[in-house]
Amino acid sequence: MNWTRKDLVGLHELSADEINFVLQTADAFKEVGTREIKKVPALRGKTLVNLFIEPSTRTRISFELAALRLSADVVNVTAAASSLTKGETLLDTARNIEALHADILVLRHNSAGAAHFLAPRLRTSIVNAGDGAHEHPTQGLLDLYTIREKKGRIDGLHVAIIGDIRFSRVARSNIFALTKLGARVTLVGPSTLVPREFEQLGVTVSHTIDDVLPSVDVVNLLRIQHERQRKEYFPGLGEYIRLFGLTKRRAELLKPDCLIMHPGPINRGVEIDSAVADGPQSVILDQVTNGLAVRMAVLYLCGGVPR
Ligand code: CP
Repeated sequence: MNWTRKDLVGLHELSADEINFVLQTADAFKEVGTREIKKVPALRGKTLVNLFIEPSTRTRISFELAALRLSADVVNVTAAASSLTKGETLLDTARNIEALHADILVLRHNSAGAAHFLAPRLRTSIVNAGDGAHEHPTQGLLDLYTIREKKGRIDGLHVAIIGDIRFSRVARSNIFALTKLGARVTLVGPSTLVPREFEQLGVTVSHTIDDVLPSVDVVNLLRIQHERQRKEYFPGLGEYIRLFGLTKRRAELLKPDCLIMHPGPINRGVEIDSAVADGPQSVILDQVTNGLAVRMAVLYLCGGVPR
């Protein structure tokens, strides 16, 4: 297929064919990571700026490594080290980065819609690295890549996404992509964090984890996003762990070949027990490794579109 998008702002707007095309492109880049010299000249001469207004470990490092492996030049900017702290608007900051001839701007921002706002206003490619509670498209893509790699398919699988769905950009990106590729999705958590309104996205909602675990092929655990919550959505962590935590005992309800996923950062002992996170069904670190190939694919595709 012919990739025509200069930006990746969300998976909501991507077709199933486009999602599959990114995953296929990532296959080629995954192989690059196994070579002794893990570098290709695909983006030589291009410049990528990582503008991270929110903290990140995995996504920021992964985008930087992905760009370096594609031979691009990379500059990292954090909120504290930028003129945003002096009152400059996001658009002015981005326009100044464009004036410095950046080809790709990778943006993490605490406001939903930040990447959507910039994309039509700049010639530079905008890649959304997570915007508030809206979308985290490369996380969704790497999650699908990992499922497809381990299970050989997405279509027909039953995936449970468990935890704080209301405030999760990872959940939204996963829901959009998984349903487009034919997976059945069940959202699990307290009714305050998993309201029935989510069923409008073509998924099932459950508030009883033990009913769901025995039938699923994949569980994707989510952290409680305290930084986005302005009030208490459940009585306490002890109550949450008792009702929704993937404890060692609860994990015994899963099929032996069920994948256990988590986008990170993990809160060990809250949404997932340490023994389960490090156990044989966990593919949490495979997700991180696959993120590199997926982000190389996204940068290669969006960075190669003529403006
Ligand atoms: N999964 C994820 O986005 O992790 P970081 O916040 O560390 O980038």
